[in-house]
Amino acid sequence: MVNTMDGVTVSPPALASELFAPIAPTYERWARLMSLGQDGRWRRAMVDGLGLAPGSRVLDVAAGTGSITRLIESHGLDVVSADQSLEMTRMAKRQDALAVLATAERLPFSDGVFDGVTFGYLLRYVDDVSRCLEELVRIVRPGGVVGMVEFGRPTGGWFPAWWLYTRALLPTAGAVIRSGWWEVGRFLGPSIDAFAESQPPDRLAAAWGDAGMEDVRFRRMSLGGGLVMWGRRR
Ligand SMILES: C[S@@+](CC[C@H](N)C(=O)[O-])C[C@H]1O[C@@H](n2cnc3c(N)ncnc32)[C@H](O)[C@@H]1O
Repeated sequence: MVNTMDGVTVSPPALASELFAPIAPTYERWARLMSLGQDGRWRRAMVDGLGLAPGSRVLDVAAGTGSITRLIESHGLDVVSADQSLEMTRMAKRQDALAVLATAERLPFSDGVFDGVTFGYLLRYVDDVSRCLEELVRIVRPGGVVGMVEFGRPTGGWFPAWWLYTRALLPTAGAVIRSGWWEVGRFLGPSIDAFAESQPPDRLAAAWGDAGMEDVRFRRMSLGGGLVMWGRRR
């Protein structure tokens, strides 16, 4: 996937490093606002839908400041977090989870050691979605579960309002907040659009199947603004 920042084409891994380092201290507060308070619902739905027994081992990838990690912990699961950003990882407010600095494309774990893997807002930042999915699935045992949260693109009558929100209000809000949010505010709408175009939910679900998952199901939430997906490793 090709992304641009200030007119310069940036490869996805470099983009993630540049984008998240400056916003780490304020990420949780403003991310909630940018999803109009909806992202907590999407994360809860994803974690509730994992259906894992207490004590199961879960890896939360692209964990950032730990919003999903903490939810997993609150379900009595044994969670490890992984993220490529030292700045985001440092800001994580968690009690027990072990945090690992790692990229989703190359996880430092053996095959099948986890009962589940989760990731939130990751796939828009990777070069090769299929290869990344294969790596995420690799570390889950057969029969284990995978859960994802991502932004979606509303369709039909809600699309114009969403377009206006992401193209006008988000950049304006970013410019007001500053501290790196101007770049995020401008980047988010086109990034969600490009991902929805290249990986609409049905196609993404098929890619999950190709990566070794079965029983893949998804739920659009908040008028299509959020996408939650689950699957089981074959
Ligand atoms: C929008 S934040 C989401 C954080 C968290 N999952 C949440 O729900 O709030 C995206 C995170 O993905 C991480 N990230 C992006 N690309 C990555 C990659 N290839 N490997 C690991 N982490 C990555 C970023 O560093 C950032 O912390």
